[in-house]
Amino acid sequence: MKIPEHIAIILDGNGRWAKKKRMPRNYGHAQGSKTVEKICEEAYRMGVKYLTVYAFSTENWSRPRDEVDALMKLLRNYMKDCLKTSSKNNMKVRILGDISKLGEDIKTSIIELEEASAENTGLNFQVALNYGGRDEILRGAKKMAEAYKAGLISLDEIDESNFFRYLDTKGIPDPDLLIRTSGEQRISNFLLWQLAYTEFYFTDTLWPDFTKEELMKAFQYYNSRNRRFGAV
Ligand code: IPE
Ligand code: IPE
Ligand code: MG
Repeated sequence: MKIPEHIAIILDGNGRWAKKKRMPRNYGHAQGSKTVEKICEEAYRMGVKYLTVYAFSTENWSRPRDEVDALMKLLRNYMKDCLKTSSKNNMKVRILGDISKLGEDIKTSIIELEEASAENTGLNFQVALNYGGRDEILRGAKKMAEAYKAGLISLDEIDESNFFRYLDTKGIPDPDLLIRTSGEQRISNFLLWQLAYTEFYFTDTLWPDFTKEELMKAFQYYNSRNRRFGAV
């Protein structure tokens, strides 16, 4: 079976999972973050080289204040845990998104985590935080316009491969497979540039219930669909 080199996941359904158990939504988020850790290990064991998860979108700020606060608190702890797991599992961590809007302490943890794991050679793990695909493209376009203004690039040099260097995913191959859990079938502003040729897999499973068996099903689907560029 062909294993996708890069999988991207829209982890969705934490709130509904908690509701089914008559628990607060935040319990679902806490459980969801444990699932992320498990799936990182399983995916790497199965041969995945890059894993990108959507943890907090630019739109998620409009959730109730309590929930945003709880998610930020969870994120703080997650960054600390991730520092340990990345060294244990030789994982290289990168954060995608506009981190300038996050709290100072979270920013510090992000920089620490990226620096500490930069030389690791295992799974490349990307976490999208305060991420929006449109926002990423606009931030990239602004950086490119600055470079043009400074005379560092010419108009003719503005092409797809050069623009890619201004995106948060610089140097990371585009995802081969996108998974979205919880039955929703939308992109919700995730990786708009990078998903141009990606296969999409949707499952009704809620994210905290996602397992390696589910991952295997997604890979089977990917293998049945994997006929890129007209090849049969
Ligand atoms: C996904 O779960 C996690 C985040 C967006 C942070 P949701 O919180 O969207 O869960 P549902 O969709 O309400 O069930
Ligand atoms: C997408 O999930 C964002 C993340 C998983 C971080 P949402 O649950 O926030 O998306 P919508 O609002 O249902 O599209
Ligand atoms: Mg949701």
